[in-house]
Amino acid sequence: MSETDSPSAAQLFSDARLSLAGGVTAGLRWHPYLGRPFYVSRAEGPYLYDLEGRRYLDFNMANGAVLLGHGHPAVCEAVQAGLAAGVLTASETEHHVRLAATLCRVIPCAERVRFAVTGTEASLVALRLARHATGRRKLLVFAGHFHGLAEPFLFRPSHPGDDGPPLPASGGVPREYGQDVVIVPWNDPDALDRALARQRGEIAAAVCEPVHYNAGCIPPQPGFLAYLRQRTQEEGIVLIFDEVLSGFRMALGGAQEYYGVTPDLCTLAKAVASGFPLAVLCGRADLMEQLSPGGPVAHSGTYTGQLLSVLAALATLRELQAPGVYQELNRRAERFYAALQGLFDRTGVPAKVQGLGARFGLYFGRREPVVNWADAVACDQSLHRRFVLGCIRRGLFFHAYLGLPGHAGFSLAHGDDCLDEALSVIEDVASDLARQRET
Ligand SMILES: Cc1ncc(COP(=O)(O)O)c(C=O)c1O
Repeated sequence: MSETDSPSAAQLFSDARLSLAGGVTAGLRWHPYLGRPFYVSRAEGPYLYDLEGRRYLDFNMANGAVLLGHGHPAVCEAVQAGLAAGVLTASETEHHVRLAATLCRVIPCAERVRFAVTGTEASLVALRLARHATGRRKLLVFAGHFHGLAEPFLFRPSHPGDDGPPLPASGGVPREYGQDVVIVPWNDPDALDRALARQRGEIAAAVCEPVHYNAGCIPPQPGFLAYLRQRTQEEGIVLIFDEVLSGFRMALGGAQEYYGVTPDLCTLAKAVASGFPLAVLCGRADLMEQLSPGGPVAHSGTYTGQLLSVLAALATLRELQAPGVYQELNRRAERFYAALQGLFDRTGVPAKVQGLGARFGLYFGRREPVVNWADAVACDQSLHRRFVLGCIRRGLFFHAYLGLPGHAGFSLAHGDDCLDEALSVIEDVASDLARQRET
């Protein structure tokens, strides 16, 4: 028996539905292929343990929030010190100043820093700053890029790949808010130019995931980020990199360091605090100093810079700054992705593997590179479903999202031995899929 047919998980979900809306604490935690959440009793290093204590090699890693591995000792020790200090919130400490100074040293665009609790909140404050600085209202985003669940970011193109009027991506979002939103396809400089020409003088901010990890892994095509930087500068638009997922993933300074393109503002979250709730907004001093109390742009919060999260982040960054960390991470990543592609090719399963640093996308039913959202959503979700369920049955955990390409990743606790074990399991799953396709 495996988690896919666990009676205790089925019973817990049935109980959960009596008190939790939809039986879950967050909508996207529902695993569409299991028909319920994947219940976990504990986690350690690269592994999750289910309700019956069965072990799974984790290829979700808390949606990317855990890069060092679950329960990293340095992070746990730092948090214990925070507990002993009285679980401070709504107070400033020397640790906050130290964390901000560290971020200013390692993130290329960071001249000033503010903390927030979630990526959603950081996105909103970044947009508010850009609107104040430019005196404009509109927001340019890229199709499928995810910036949290605040209203300005909850729009989608009317059709994948098209740059027509956006539609609300959630109930309860007024359609007319979409008048302020311009959506263009990723990696398409001509579409970007058309949108900028149509909306000249109206766009306050352009926001992107510099690597589109929320669609798996769609890197910018050569020169695209530099072109976006150049065109936003020419048009007086504030460029915001949402590095909530890409931050720390392939370089200490995130995608902006890796590609050598510096935005005006940047948001970070997830990996920065190893699973503790902390987000960061950072960027140009002249913009950031517009935040209250120095300027008129509102930003504050009771849980902003909660001490446990700040200490977790300091411990995380100490680990990530150790010599050779990124060389080793990228070596493991490249070796793993090449082997994964090789085994799909060998077994005859149509799948394209795209990865950069510690996160990757698997695009089933496709052999050519995926360059934008339209490509990603056109992939074969039924093959993906069979792949993910086959992996879960054999002790590898992948999360999934209904109708979305989803993303996967590993951590620094996934050594070559773990990744080799995963490759051998995936080879079995792929052989099964290939046999099913023949019959
Ligand atoms: C790129 C990106 N931006 C923003 C967010 C929102 O962050 P949070 O879930 O902390 O609100 C996410 C969450 O997955 C994300 O991946």
